[in-house]
Amino acid sequence: MSRSCLALILAAGEGTRMRSPLPKVMHKVAGLPMVTHVLNVSVDAGCTDIAVVAGNGFELVSSSVSASHPQSQIFEQTERLGTGHAVLAARAAIEKGTDDILVLFGDTPLLRPGTLSRMRSELAEGAAVVVLGFRADDPTGYGRLLEDDSKLLAIREHKDASDHEREVDFCNGGIMGLAGAHALELLDAITNDNANKEYYLTDVVEIANAKGFSVTAIEAEETEVMGVNTRNGLADVEALWQQAKRHEMMTAGVTMQAPETVFLHADTVIEPNVMLEPNIFFGPGVTVKANARIRAFSHLEGATVGEGAEIGPYARLRPGANLAEGTKVGNFVEIKNADIHQGAKVNHLTYIGDAEIGSEANIGAGTITCNYDGMNKHKTTIGINAFVGSNSSLVAPVTIGNGAFVASGSVITENVPDNALGVARGRQSNKPNYANAIRERNAALKQKRSKS
Ligand code: UD1
Ligand code: CA
Repeated sequence: MSRSCLALILAAGEGTRMRSPLPKVMHKVAGLPMVTHVLNVSVDAGCTDIAVVAGNGFELVSSSVSASHPQSQIFEQTERLGTGHAVLAARAAIEKGTDDILVLFGDTPLLRPGTLSRMRSELAEGAAVVVLGFRADDPTGYGRLLEDDSKLLAIREHKDASDHEREVDFCNGGIMGLAGAHALELLDAITNDNANKEYYLTDVVEIANAKGFSVTAIEAEETEVMGVNTRNGLADVEALWQQAKRHEMMTAGVTMQAPETVFLHADTVIEPNVMLEPNIFFGPGVTVKANARIRAFSHLEGATVGEGAEIGPYARLRPGANLAEGTKVGNFVEIKNADIHQGAKVNHLTYIGDAEIGSEANIGAGTITCNYDGMNKHKTTIGINAFVGSNSSLVAPVTIGNGAFVASGSVITENVPDNALGVARGRQSNKPNYANAIRERNAALKQKRSKS
């Protein structure tokens, strides 16, 4: 029997220390807003309902949430009166009466679904409240979990804690599970009688104990509950995210020579036995198929690299670059919105945009598809097994036929038929001994100048 679960994500905070016009939860980790990570982990943990409480930057946060997770309900907290108050902004979602409720923070993007599942197990076994704690290296600022024989008695906010309580290093990570059946009864009992005059969500621990409910804490790694408060914290979380993702990929069979120099996006897909050289950046929407090799200093976004393909060093794949099996894209080559079919080669100093390149075609160094007339984009089609000589400009719309040749240095403005040679350049003429005449003239000029 599966239990229903509401993920209630708090994302209304001011985020003052970010010093940013952007709401804090919209700052990105691995290319996705932090709140999107929290939404994803909620879905992965089997939450059936999602409620987001937004406030600061309401429009931006709510449009981002509805775009990525349209099933979410969004609530506005108009005043920031504390986490207990924020949760009740989503009263209508709580009233629906799911079996479990997980209160999450929108600025804690490293949370793992397995941890949320562990919390849900405690609720399934009868806990009314379950708190996610961690052992802090430096507990300053965190709420402390006050236990007696592993029974959770209270959470004391740092400001309200006694010197003795401040010595406790078991801290509140901020994530809390509530039994849906008792949630409103507990939340409605919270008051703002504390140092901050705030409604503390954490007060439900003492309230539940007083009512004789079962209350428990489970432990997570400190890194998993790490909340972002500053841009430095954002970079720390990004680094941890990247490290974990690289580790996961290498475990699955991807080789990375210098993993710390490979930057992945949350949606990057890399199949087993891919080889990644140092210094590679993945933007959104990249898939790299098995046995491909990405050489150093390459930048990829919105691209597919086919099986056994080789790109770089210094390749740039932009959105819509689709490289089939066994293709080669070499140094200082930019590819955008183009299908490069099986075995085709684009090895040096080239721009291919809005194009289709047939299988086994060879594109010479310095070839440019002139795809833009200043207002519109046009397509270049290059046939199977075609050969484009170096330093050619292909002025789109234009088609180079199957098996056709383009002479180097051509500016091709008309279609080249199948198996034809297209030449479009000035014809060469040689003037015998003319070089000697030039040298003599130059020598005479030099001598004249040195005398005067
Ligand atoms: C909170 C916990 C503390 C815990 C710490 C972990 C409480 C009272 N304290 O403290 O025990 O150790 O997190 O990081 O819960 N928010 C709103 N509306 C509000 C207030 C907060 O949406 O009115 C949101 C914030 O955007 C943030 C989250 O709730 O995402 C936590 O609020 P914050 O003020 O950062 O709580 P802490 O003081 O860090
Ligand atoms: Ca905080």
